[in-house]
Amino acid sequence: MPSLYYLSVTIHVLSALVWLGGMFFLALVGAPVLRAVENPELRQRLFDQLGYRFRSVGWLSLGVLLITGVANLWYRGALSAAMWRDPAFANSGWATALKIKLVAVTVMLIVEAYHDWVLGPRAGRVLAGSPEALAMRRQASRYARVSAIAGIVIVVAAVRLARP
Ligand code: HEM
Repeated sequence: MPSLYYLSVTIHVLSALVWLGGMFFLALVGAPVLRAVENPELRQRLFDQLGYRFRSVGWLSLGVLLITGVANLWYRGALSAAMWRDPAFANSGWATALKIKLVAVTVMLIVEAYHDWVLGPRAGRVLAGSPEALAMRRQASRYARVSAIAGIVIVVAAVRLARP
């Protein structure tokens, strides 16, 4: 395998680390700490700034994951239409892991886009500490949970992809 393939996988894994690590850090450490801030305006501002900052980092790493993911497939020869026409390959465990991974990536992208570009900015505009703000926070954390589950499915499928 060429060195560029190893470079692509390394960047892919590092980006996954930034993306998933950041997401789990926010959910397990950042959000509980911020929820304990008593002043509602300050709490909302901190949530807003943290979300805004991670949004750029997160989408940058997602972009890199998509580009290096396709490069990984290319180096593995899995972008060839002839290979997918062969039932032995198309029905193999490897191909199934790839299909599962791509479905989970699509779910994660849709949920994340809604969470980051619609829900987050909307939550920043409502009155801090109001019932509306509370309802939005609950909705945002439900979406974040779906995204985290999709992230775990992606890693499980990725481990299978790396071990044919
Ligand atoms: C279009 C999207 C993606 C494609 C096509 C893709 C494709 C791949 C491929 C083919 C491999 C195997 C590389 C090899 O060893 O030859 C791989 C590994 C990996 N992928 Fe992705 N990937 C995508 C998105 C993601 C995302 C969004 C994440 C995490 C959130 C992710 C996490 C990983 C990890 C952690 C590995 C390494 C697994 C290991 O070495 O055990 N991938 N990916």
